[in-house]
Amino acid sequence: MPMSDLTVLRGGTVVTAVDTFPADVWLEGGTILALARHDQDLGFSPSRTVEINARGKYVLPGGIDAHTHLDMPFGGTTSSDDFETGTRAAAHGGTTTLVDFAIQTKGQALRQGLDAWHAKAEGKAAIDYGFHMITTDVNPSTVAEMGQLVREGITSFKLFMAYPGVLYVDDGQIFRAMQRARELDALICMHAENGIALDVLIEQALARGETAPKYHSLSRPQIAEAEGTHRALCLAEMAGAPVYIVHLSAPRALEKVLEARDRGQAAFAETCPQYLFCSLDDLAREGFEGAKYVCTPPLRPREMQADLWRGLKTNDLQVVSTDHCPFCFKGQKDLGRESFAKIPNGMPGVETRLYLLWDGGVNTGRISMNRFVEITSTAPAKIFGLYPRKGTVAVGADADLLVWDPEKVHTLDHKNMHMRVDYSPYEGKTVKGGPSHVLSRGKVVIEDGAFKGRAGDGRFVRRGTFNLY
Ligand code: URP
Ligand code: ZN
Ligand code: ZN
Repeated sequence: MPMSDLTVLRGGTVVTAVDTFPADVWLEGGTILALARHDQDLGFSPSRTVEINARGKYVLPGGIDAHTHLDMPFGGTTSSDDFETGTRAAAHGGTTTLVDFAIQTKGQALRQGLDAWHAKAEGKAAIDYGFHMITTDVNPSTVAEMGQLVREGITSFKLFMAYPGVLYVDDGQIFRAMQRARELDALICMHAENGIALDVLIEQALARGETAPKYHSLSRPQIAEAEGTHRALCLAEMAGAPVYIVHLSAPRALEKVLEARDRGQAAFAETCPQYLFCSLDDLAREGFEGAKYVCTPPLRPREMQADLWRGLKTNDLQVVSTDHCPFCFKGQKDLGRESFAKIPNGMPGVETRLYLLWDGGVNTGRISMNRFVEITSTAPAKIFGLYPRKGTVAVGADADLLVWDPEKVHTLDHKNMHMRVDYSPYEGKTVKGGPSHVLSRGKVVIEDGAFKGRAGDGRFVRRGTFNLY
């Protein structure tokens, strides 16, 4: 039977969340057709075979970043990457799917926010994408609307205990949304910090003249995050709903997740590279440099990082996402020169996640290659309803693949990268290990550092409902 064109990733070692084995990976029409012993003749007779040399390299499932904020109005400005620049940068770093946060404007329907995000992404995204829905107004009408969104593949909703007056919702709204999530098999993602109490601490710090960037962290102690996390877990248990704690930054909050999981609760949590590789020392850099490191929850004292690494190793933390929310130093971060409270919250990271975790995780022996794949691809795919279409290397799965060169050396300067932001939190840092080829549904989008993809080739992915328990 005549076949269409095939692609083969030849001679590499496939790494999934559970296995490491030598295999050629055959692709047809955007999906994985076959895995075969090296140079085994499968009897295929395509009109043309495109060969990609993976000898001496690994073949991994593409990264899934379950937490990005592209083109998001926030903090008096808008995050500097849109879907074109942000997805292109993601591809450069080996991420082939992202789940961005659409936002409901208070007083409007969820639908309006969702439509706005579809319009931002369509024709621009270079890789596949889905949406979570940030719900800022939980009322009978939006609770009803959640069902329609789930049917359209928006199967997770983010709620904020932080940012009073902006994104904040109260406990009653959180509980009601969780009850509805239970009915719909949807997942609530929680920004778990006690924003009401933190606003008091921020006001008091500013009254004492503590305006520099480091006070962003000093006025947001980890106990506020632990309390929020505990409350989110209790409300989820009362509602009988699963819950996912986003951007967990601190050991006391992690303890709460661990306790809940030990009791058998459907509780999940992610951390982000900035909490593993940056710290309060960066926020305290000279002059206004610390503004580059303002994100929420804030960076913590360096000694807290060890607990997060332990959590990743022992599966108390299941995912590393980026919370990519970039703002330029000039013209955006400097809105807060007079007061840390006015610095737009967020850091760039969609391009650097896999480099950092391989170099700082796999190369140092903190995590295995399989665990690397699990926390950056397979676990987010399972938790957010993308698996098994994405998140693994298996026959029939989307051919979202990386040829990963463990010898590739790369410096994480902003000039070497593709995010639309005028700084890198990791300026001057050299890492070893990175993608030589990135494939999105079988098409090469990155080859040896060159972008071969196209804005608009990325497709919206309807995600499945939560089914891990
Ligand atoms: O600083 C952050 N994290 N900015 C993005 C908004 C959020 O809370 O995730
Ligand atoms: Zn958040
Ligand atoms: Zn975020």
